[in-house]
Amino acid sequence: MDSEEINASAESRHHFRELMAIGLIASLVGIGLGLLIDWFPTQGSTQAETVDTVWDVLIIFSVPVFVLVMVVVLYCVWRYRMKPGEELKDGPPIHGNTRLEIIWTAIPAILLVALCSYSYVALTDIEEAKADALNVRVVGEQFTWTFYYKDASGKEFGSPQLYVPRDRPVHFTVQSLDVIHDFWVPAFRMKIDAVPGVDTELRITPKTNGEYPVICAELCGLGHAVMRQTAHVVDQAEFDSWLRDRAARAAGGGGAPAEEGGGPAPEGKAVFTEAGCGGCHELADAGTSGGTGPSLDENLAGKDEAFIEKSIVDPSAQIAEGFSDNIMPPNFGDTLQPAELDALVKYLAEVTK
Ligand code: CUA
Repeated sequence: MDSEEINASAESRHHFRELMAIGLIASLVGIGLGLLIDWFPTQGSTQAETVDTVWDVLIIFSVPVFVLVMVVVLYCVWRYRMKPGEELKDGPPIHGNTRLEIIWTAIPAILLVALCSYSYVALTDIEEAKADALNVRVVGEQFTWTFYYKDASGKEFGSPQLYVPRDRPVHFTVQSLDVIHDFWVPAFRMKIDAVPGVDTELRITPKTNGEYPVICAELCGLGHAVMRQTAHVVDQAEFDSWLRDRAARAAGGGGAPAEEGGGPAPEGKAVFTEAGCGGCHELADAGTSGGTGPSLDENLAGKDEAFIEKSIVDPSAQIAEGFSDNIMPPNFGDTLQPAELDALVKYLAEVTK
């Protein structure tokens, strides 16, 4: 070794240490930022804790890989850039380095196998079937979800809103009546395709009371973006009373608990709100401004109750001017009870006349 070579190797060791120091600091900053960012909504289910932990672990392992590669590339571009007068100067050709190649193959392989195994264990854990689960059948169609429960006698009835009791495992059986949809409640972190002719399933255990969006996560047609409903996580007692109330209404009784004997007729404005009509339709009286569907203030003005009822239960019968196709859910005739439909029709006729 002459003195020039010794200097060169000391310099390259210095560069390597500098590179590693920059890479280490940048990785720590990257991991810190990755963990600080609040990526997800409220943890609505116990599954959400596991999923969020998997996410954090992936951040911790993948950020340094990305950051180190970027640091090496940028550092080399800057440090070893060609200066004026060096156009003909080129280093000796490199003919491979077995040790380096083993290292850069082994490290990613070990990382991949370890992270895959960890994810597999986490997935098995969150998909585990639990005893005493509440069964809910979820049916998707263009462009709505209907949630089917069983009453005390085992008779099934549908609801446009998803209610689940906190701390009790829920087992969803997911189906579709037409095209592929995807049942997703981001707060629960779990999602599954609704495939025509196939029953898919999903399990969660709600853990935080609240209202969370139910979203269709598969492009399913013109109304895909409005295929949104609400999941309510409530106390077991509130869930029981909701279930009794819905079951009683489905059986044709009044809206109130049976012990009160029938109860008051459903109020049209409440039905309008509960069924989510305002999400798509403007109605001044209810203070809603949804623009996805026709304005009810404009389109129902002067229309009679028969027209309004027909428009709700068979929305494709007559499409409002300016709208090319029907994207309104066709199942309100099923999910609304006769008394509710009647109240809604009367309410709409009253406030738009
Ligand atoms: Cu259903 Cu998108």
